[in-house]
Amino acid sequence: MKRTCLAVILAAGESTRMKSSMSKVLHPVAGRPMIAHVVESLVNASISSVALVLGRDAEAVQSAAARSDIDMSAFLQTERLGTGHAVLAAKDAIAKGYDDILVVFGDTPLITAAPLLAARQGLADGNDVVVIGFKTVDPTGYGRLLVEDGALLAIREQKDATEDEKKITYCNGGLMAINGAKALELLGKIGNANAKGEYYLTDIVEIVRAEGGKAIAVEAPETELTGCNNRAELAAIETIWQKRRRHELMVSGVSMIAPETVFLAFDTQIAQDVLIEPNVVFGPGVIIESGAVIHAFSHLEGAHVSAGATVGPYARLRPGANLGPGSKVGNFCEVKKAEIGAGAKVNHLTYIGDAFVGEKTNIGAGTITCNYDGVNKHITRIGANAFIGSNASLVAPVSIGDGALVASGSVVTDDVPADAVAFGRARQEVKPGRAKILRERYHAEKAARKK
Ligand code: UD1
Ligand code: CA
Repeated sequence: MKRTCLAVILAAGESTRMKSSMSKVLHPVAGRPMIAHVVESLVNASISSVALVLGRDAEAVQSAAARSDIDMSAFLQTERLGTGHAVLAAKDAIAKGYDDILVVFGDTPLITAAPLLAARQGLADGNDVVVIGFKTVDPTGYGRLLVEDGALLAIREQKDATEDEKKITYCNGGLMAINGAKALELLGKIGNANAKGEYYLTDIVEIVRAEGGKAIAVEAPETELTGCNNRAELAAIETIWQKRRRHELMVSGVSMIAPETVFLAFDTQIAQDVLIEPNVVFGPGVIIESGAVIHAFSHLEGAHVSAGATVGPYARLRPGANLGPGSKVGNFCEVKKAEIGAGAKVNHLTYIGDAFVGEKTNIGAGTITCNYDGVNKHITRIGANAFIGSNASLVAPVSIGDGALVASGSVVTDDVPADAVAFGRARQEVKPGRAKILRERYHAEKAARKK
């Protein structure tokens, strides 16, 4: 599309019903602020100029919305006098002259590019106002779209609607595209003579028609226009987002046994032929390559899992965990800021943090990298083909060479050269018959106490 476009994001609401110390548009959906989802949809619709209309938490909202591929300006709406008034807060940006002005809401994060493109196409086809509508079984609270012969006659807010109009199920999603050449003139004519005494953006439909202009509605799926007013709606939005993203991943070749129990982040990348078992949670920054298996009840964040690796059940991968091809991190293991080499195994009850583990090395059950001295973090380096016996404590900074063997239960404080064996524990003593002597003494003492 050759036409230029400015998107105006309305985000000046008080968020009263969220009962929160921060603006609702900062609340996360799939691990990132709602407003960032809206901006992403704009980018997906090839829109690169954005004007933000802000109220509370203006600076935080602005930085949550910012990204390098958009040109963003911000405006404060100091008094909250309605959606029509809010758009005019951005009048300096609108006045720069764009073919299309697109108004979107900061609290409608499920919107995708398709309806935005359809609304702009409506302008390209010669309409002056194109409203994004949706059909719903329960229209209570929404503005109703009064449509006749394909033309949009008016939008009637719930409080101003007649009983007949209230029966209409075609509703205003709140988002609309406006002919940029006429936008400021039309917005300037919006008054506040209505039940709420607010400047309704929706009045623009009747205003443009009175001037001989054309208005239409384009329909979008109801789910995309779900708005967030309270935390129950926030959770409903999260549910819809998760369902949509899981579906995309499954269609792209990812297997999920119980998809409704898998939780993804906004940026989770999972390749083809990965199997995700039930009850897996992805925080931000996870990449899973082809053929990997994530077993049940694992939690991953900021982690990279290479092809053919297996994780869990009950594993925790924290930021900087980098699992090589075919490696294994098993049950009740935690890995943080550590490279696990190709084919290496960390199978049971282990903590590996600030470490390098070489290819094909085996880390025994209960091994701990003691990476923290209470003040600083230190690094553990373990070579390739090494064997760390169960319940070893590797006190960093420490290095263990290729092919080295650390005896079970060792506390390793000095470097171990390649192919060496290290014992770091007391030598075993065996005292024949001693257990029997002790047992008899204990029984005798107990009997004496009872007398
Ligand atoms: C609006 C529409 C309604 C539509 C509904 C869809 C109007 C008059 N009504 O109603 O037809 O069905 O959305 O959800 O537009 N905002 C500001 N400054 C203001 C007022 C609002 O920034 O002065 C922002 C809010 O933060 C919010 C958005 O605009 O993001 C919508 O405002 P809201 O008051 O929620 O409008 P609704 O009454 O839901
Ligand atoms: Ca609303």
